Amino acid sequence: MTRIRPVTGPADPAVLEAAAILRGGGLVAFPTETVYGLGADGLNSEAVARIYAAKGRPATNPVILHVDGPDAARALVATWPEVAAVLAARFWPGPLTLVLPASEAVPSIVRAGGPSVALRCPAHPVALALIRAAGRPLAAPSANRSQHLSPTLAAHVASSLGDAVDLILDGGPTEAGLESTILDLSGPRPRILRPGPIAPADLVAVVGPVELWEGAVAAGEIQAAPGMAERHYAPRARLELVVPGAGLSRPQGRSAYVGLGSLPALPEGVRGVLLPLDAEVVGARLYALLHDLDDAGCEWILMERPPEDEAWLAVRDRLRRASAKETP
Ligand code: TXA
Ligand code: MG
Repeated sequence: MTRIRPVTGPADPAVLEAAAILRGGGLVAFPTETVYGLGADGLNSEAVARIYAAKGRPATNPVILHVDGPDAARALVATWPEVAAVLAARFWPGPLTLVLPASEAVPSIVRAGGPSVALRCPAHPVALALIRAAGRPLAAPSANRSQHLSPTLAAHVASSLGDAVDLILDGGPTEAGLESTILDLSGPRPRILRPGPIAPADLVAVVGPVELWEGAVAAGEIQAAPGMAERHYAPRARLELVVPGAGLSRPQGRSAYVGLGSLPALPEGVRGVLLPLDAEVVGARLYALLHDLDDAGCEWILMERPPEDEAWLAVRDRLRRASAKETP
C-alpha cells in the first residue's frame, strides 16, 4: 500500500521525511496550489526516470522543475532575460511556468532531450518547504498516469499511481484545480503553451503582447510544444460538450449532465450536476467532479460548453482535451 501522510503546514515533520526520500532518489507526491505533483530530485536522472515509469509518460514529454525562487531558477537556465525577471517578480510564487533555454545543470531526461527547461515556483507553502528541505529543484509533473485526469486530492494520486509512489503528502484539496499557465520565453516572442490560472491579460499587462499557441500535436509525433497531445486530462467516461439549453437526446448507459448556472429538465436516470457560471469555481472543481463521476461508474458525461470569453480559456482548453477522441 502507498503511504499517505497528512501534512498540516510547512513545519510538519512529514515534510522532512519526504525531503529525505527525495534526496535518496525516491518519489513523493505533494500538493501545490494547482494540482498534486509527482516529485523527484530534478538533478538525478535515475530518480526522474522513475517519474516517467510511474506515469507511463512518453520520453518525448519533458517535466517541469520546481524551484523556491528566481535565484534557484537562474542556475538552471542559459539566459535569464529581463522579461523572465519581471514575470518572476510579479507572479512567483504562483501558477506560472516559464520555459527558457536550459543550462548544462539540467539533466537531458528533464528536458526530454530538448534545449529548454520549464521552471515554476509553486505558491503552496508545503511545496515550497519541500523544495527547500530537499535542497534541490524538484522535477514534478502532475501526479497521475499519463493522459489521465490530474489529481486535486491525495486520494486521486493513490488511485492513479498506487505503489509507484514512495509517499503521498496529503495537504487536502488543491486550490486552483487546473495546471499552471505555461509561458514559453525561449522564442522571439512570449508564447502561452498552456492556458492556466494566470490569464493572458495578466501577462500582457506586465510584458506586452503574448502569443497563444492553439495548435495541438498528435500523440507520438515529435512534439513542438511537448505534452500537448490533443487527448489529455481525460476521464474514463465519454465526455461530450453540449450547447446549454439544447434538447437532450436520450443518453445511453449511466449518464450525468453538468449544467453551468442552471440545469434543464433531465431524462429519468440522468444525474444532474449544477456548477456556478464562474470560471474560477469550475476550474477548482472540474477534475474532482470528473474523478467522482468516473468512480461512480458514469459512462457518459454531457457538460455544457462554457462561455467564449477569456476568463474561461483554461477551462475550455481542458474540456476540449478531455473530450477529444482517443488518438490511435
Ligand atoms: O501546475 C502544474 O504545472 C503542475 C504542478 C504539479 O506543478 N505540473 C504539471 O506538470 O502540470 P505536467 O508535466 O503534467 O505538465 C507540464 C507540461 C507538459 O505538457 C510538458 O510537455 C510541458 O509542461 N513542458 C515541460 N517542459 C517543457 C519545455 N522545456 N518546453 C515546453 N513545454 C514543456
Ligand atoms: Mg499532467
